[in-house]
Amino acid sequence: MKIRTQVGIIGAGPAGLMLSHLLYLQGVESVILEAASREHIESRIRAGVLEQGTVDLLMETGVGERLRREGMFHEGIELRFGGQTHRIDFCELTGGKGVAIYAQHEVVKDLVAARLTANGQIVFEAANVQLRGLDGARAEISFEKDGLLQELSCDFIAGCDGFHGVSRPSIPEGVITSYEQAYPFAWLGILAQARPSSVELIYAYHDRGFALHSMRSPQISRLYLQCAPDEDLSAWPDERIWTELQRRFTLAADWNLNEGPILQKSVTGMRSFVAEPMQFAKLFLAGDSAHIVPPTGAKGLNLAIADVRVLADGFKQFYESGSTELLNRYSEICLRRVWKVQRFSWWMTSLLHRHVSNNPFEERRQLAELDYVTSSRAAAQTLAENYVGLPREPY
Ligand code: FAD
Ligand code: PHB
Repeated sequence: MKIRTQVGIIGAGPAGLMLSHLLYLQGVESVILEAASREHIESRIRAGVLEQGTVDLLMETGVGERLRREGMFHEGIELRFGGQTHRIDFCELTGGKGVAIYAQHEVVKDLVAARLTANGQIVFEAANVQLRGLDGARAEISFEKDGLLQELSCDFIAGCDGFHGVSRPSIPEGVITSYEQAYPFAWLGILAQARPSSVELIYAYHDRGFALHSMRSPQISRLYLQCAPDEDLSAWPDERIWTELQRRFTLAADWNLNEGPILQKSVTGMRSFVAEPMQFAKLFLAGDSAHIVPPTGAKGLNLAIADVRVLADGFKQFYESGSTELLNRYSEICLRRVWKVQRFSWWMTSLLHRHVSNNPFEERRQLAELDYVTSSRAAAQTLAENYVGLPREPY
C-alpha cells in the first residue's frame, strides 16, 4: 500500500511528536512512523526538566493543560559541596524565568493524545523502516506494519528517531562530520516512592562523586549518583544505593534524605555528540538523531524541541510561499544553539563530577570554580540563563 503525505516523520519521541503537532497547527500534513508501541513510549523513563521556552510552547500550542496542573514549577536549584548548600535563584537572575519538573513520558502522552484527537496519523510498531530517494523528486519511506510492506511518499522527511535510529545512517558517507566526546563515568538512576527531600533540585559535588536529587511528584523522588560506565547494577542492592546517596548529600547542618521503596533502577552512559550538517537534501535530522548531550544540564529534550520549532517554521515558509530559504539555513540556525548547549552541558558535567584522573591542582581548581559560581552574581547568572534556556535568536 502506498500512502502520500507532505512530511514523513520517523520517531514519536518529543521531537517527532512536537513537529507533527506544530505542522498540524500550520495546516501541513504529516505521518509519524514509530518502531515501538504506544505503551512503550508512554512509559519510558527519561528526562524531567522543561526549560521556560519549552513550557511556554506546550502551553501556547494547547498541549500544556496537564503540565499546568501537575508540573512542579521551580525558580532555582541548589549546588551542594563541602558540606554547604548554595541556592541559585533563577527567577531573580533571569528576570522571572524558571523551569518545570514534568516527566518526558508525560509530555509524550500529552502530544500523542493531541495528535490522535486531531486524527493525526501515528503508525506504532512500524518495523524495518528504510529511507530512499532523499535527493530525488519525492522521498520514499518503506516500512512493515503487521507483516505487510508499505510505502510512504513525501515531500520531506524529518529524522526524529534518536541516536540509534535509521535516519542519520541513511545519509551518504562523507556528507556528515561527527564530533564526539566520551566521559569516563555514568549515572546510576533510581525512581523511589519517597517524598522529595527538598523543594528544588540539588546538584551535589562530593569526594565520592556527583549526586543529583530530583523528583517526579510530591510522592516520588528521582535520584542519581555518579558511577562507572560499566557499573554492574546487580552490585547495587537498594541499601547500598541509599547509603551512598546519604553520604553524597551530607550537609554540615541538619538535613535528611527521605528514603522509600525503589521502583526502578538504571545506568545511563554519558556522551556529547554532534552531527554536522543536520540536513541532507530532503532529510532533516532533529533531536537526538543529530546530537546528544550529557544529562547534567537537563538539555536533551529541550534541544529536541528547539530544533523542531525551527524546522516547523521552515516548512511553514515553504508551504506558504514555495521558498526554501529558511529550510536551507535549518542546520546552520540549529547548530548555533546546539553548540552553546553542548558547551553548557559539558561545563556542568565537568564542574560537578569527580574526575579520578585529576591531580591535586585540578581538584583545587574545580572547588574554586564551584566557589566562584556560588559567590559571584555574574557567574551564577551565566549558569541561570543557560539552565532556564537561552532565548531564541531571530532568524
Ligand atoms: P527520542 O526520545 O529518543 O525519540 C526517538 C524515537 O524514535 C523513539 O520513540 C524510538 O523508539 C523511535 N525510533 C528509533 N529508531 C527508529 C526506527 N528505526 N524506526 C522508527 N522509529 C524509531 N535528557 C535529560 O535532559 N535528562 C535525563 O535525565 C535524560 N535521561 C535519559 C535517559 C535515557 C535512557 C536516554 C536514552 C535519554 C535521556 N535523556 C535525558 C535525553 C532525552 O531523553 C533525549 O534528549 C530526548 O528523548 C530526545 O528526544 P528525541 O525525540 O530526539 O528522541
Ligand atoms: C531528572 O529529573 O531526571 C533530571 C533532572 C535534572 C538533570 C537530569 C535529569 O540535570
